[in-house]
Parts: sequence; C-alpha cells; structure tokens
Amino acid sequence: MYGNAYVDPENKIVNSITANEDPIKLAEFESRIAAGDKIEPMDWMPAEYKKQLVRMIEQHAHSEIIGALPEGTWITRAPGFRRKLALMAKVQDEIGHGQLLYSAAETLGKSREAMTNDLITGKSKYSNVFNYPAKTWADSAVIAWLIDAGAIVNQLANSKGSYGPYCRALDRICAEESFHLKYGHDNVVFLATGTPVQRAMVQDALNRWWEPIMHFFGPPDKESIHSATLMRWKVKMGSNDDMRNMFLDMYVPKIWDLGLTLPDENLHKNEETGRWEYTEPNWEVFKQVINGNGPCNKERLAVRRKAEENGRWVRKALAKPSEKYVTPLS
Ligand code: COA
Repeated sequence: MYGNAYVDPENKIVNSITANEDPIKLAEFESRIAAGDKIEPMDWMPAEYKKQLVRMIEQHAHSEIIGALPEGTWITRAPGFRRKLALMAKVQDEIGHGQLLYSAAETLGKSREAMTNDLITGKSKYSNVFNYPAKTWADSAVIAWLIDAGAIVNQLANSKGSYGPYCRALDRICAEESFHLKYGHDNVVFLATGTPVQRAMVQDALNRWWEPIMHFFGPPDKESIHSATLMRWKVKMGSNDDMRNMFLDMYVPKIWDLGLTLPDENLHKNEETGRWEYTEPNWEVFKQVINGNGPCNKERLAVRRKAEENGRWVRKALAKPSEKYVTPLS
C-alpha cells in the first residue's frame, strides 16, 4: 500500500532494543504481528513496544485536548448560529477523542494523572500544529479541513495497526473526524467562493498554515527516530514521508481546484515516481515548536494548567476517602 516504507533491513535497531527480551516470546509476538493479530493489554509484549505505544498514544491524546484550544476560541465568534453549533460539537468531539486515547494509554499502565502531569509540566510533546494562533475565522476553517484531513490520513492507516485498544479508539475517532473534515471543507469553499475579502482571508490563512501542515506528518524518514521500530511492529502503518505524500495527493488538487494557491512554487507531482516533490519546510522551526518554543506553547499549557487547577476540587470530592488522591502539580 505504501510506496516508500521505512525499513531496518539488518534489524540493527530492533536487535539493540530487544537484547534483553526472551527470544522465544519475542518470536511468538512478532509472528502474531506478522499474521495481523491484535495485541491486547494482558498479552506479552516487548518492553520497547509498550514504551513506544505509551509515548505515541499519550502524545496523540494531548494533541486532541490542546487541539481543541485554537478552534475553541472561535466558538463565541463563529459567523452565525449554525456554524457556532457545529464548531461547538466539533470541539466537544476533540475532547472526547482525548479521553478515548487516554483510556487506551492507561491500558499500558500509565495513569491519567501522570499523563496530565507530564503535559502541563511540559515533559510530553503534542502536535506542532496546535502551537499556532487561529487569527481569523478562515484559520478555523483551514484547521477543520486540512489538519483534520491530515489526521485522518494518519489515523485511518494506523487503525489497521497491531495494538487493539489504540486501533479501536482510532476507528471511532476517524468516523467523527470525517464529519469535521466535511464541515471544514464547507467553510473553506464558502470563503473561497465568497467576496474578494473572504477569498483573501482564506488564502492568507492557507499561506500561514502550510508550513505547520507539512511539519504535521513528522520529520523526513531519514531523520525519524522511531519509525523503524514502530513500523516493524505495525504501530505506524506508513512512514512520515508516505503519510505526507498521501495527504498531498488527496488534498493539493482539491485546494488548487478552488483557485487557491500554496506558498511553495516547487510543489508538484512527479508523474514518473507518483510522489510529490516540494521545498523542504524549515525543520529548525519544527524543532523549536515541538520543544516548547512555538508562538503559542506557553499560552496553550497555561490554559490547560488552569483547567486542571480549577477542576481539582471536583476530583478531590469524587475520590474515595480511602484513596490517597494524587493530583498533578500537588
Ligand atoms: N508534532 C510534535 N512532535 C512531533 C511531530 C509533530 N507533528 N512529529 C514528530 N514529532 C516528534 C516525535 O514525537 C519524536 O519526539 P520524541 O522522541 O520526543 O517523542 C520526534 O519528533 C521524532 O519524530 P519521529 O521519530 O518521526 O516520531 P514518530 O515515529 O512517533 O512519528 C508521528 C511522529 C506524529 C507521525 C506519530 O507519532 C503518529 O503518527 N502519532 C499519532 C497521531 C498523532 O499524534 N496525531 C496528532 C494529532 S491529531
């Protein structure tokens, strides 16, 4: 299915991270993966598989929660009651996705409190794209269409992966995301076919969001640290470059069809290879953004921290008296 899958031909990476595993159990585990079995929480799994899943599912959950913030700021200002209702429903869905994913990560033994703590103290990452401001209504339209489209490309592929609880969460999430994408597309079409001011507004948003969207799929394959392991164990079902290419293939023609342009004059499909060629986005900017130094990182975490503090009394009231209550930041 994927043209350029990232591989570890001599198994160098996998041999080094599984050196302490029981070889018989490891071989059984890998044959189950090869046969397309789902791995369930109580099944034997290599320590590195568990560690990688927790890292990835947790980052994904945080992305859904933080991802609700840029769009959430537009609920009160959405043009018209119907758009307001639709946006409110979308934002609620995103928070629900976060909850599903936290539950999937909890099956691997990391508590929700620990995950929340790692988010609000800046230890865990979340998607680069949510560290940019949604300056105009057109930004919220571009996010709902193209970022949700990128998410679907990634999640639809990974829902066919190996870890049962993550795949089942992704199935449900993709069903809801497909409505978000239609909602976002409708908003972009409305602006792109509207007045010159509306058209200029959506073009401006697209220009600003293009680089973060290109970053969204992760660093180029040759610089991806985790792809070889994750793809061998079918957690990631396509490499970063494969997913980026699939997104470009599906959405660039749709963007151009609307008469909109993209801020990369080298962007084109190479008909011989079937792959898209483009100017590499600035990967230094990406590193800065994912390591806490993007335009909105501090603001995003401050909002999440405040929500955690405001909800502390509820969690305290609900805790059984016999349980020692562990609260993030306590
Ligand atoms: N935003 C933030 N960080 C990112 C990123 C992005 N768009 N893409 C990659 N990174 C980070 C990785 O988390 C990793 O950092 P870490 O080692 O500190 O955890 C580092 O950059 C190297 O990247 P790579 O080795 O390619 O990571 P990966 O194999 O996990 O691939 C994703 C990155 C995002 C493609 C992958 O984790 C994934 O598919 N996640 C699930 C979907 C998801 O989270 N979507 C986002 C919101 S809808």
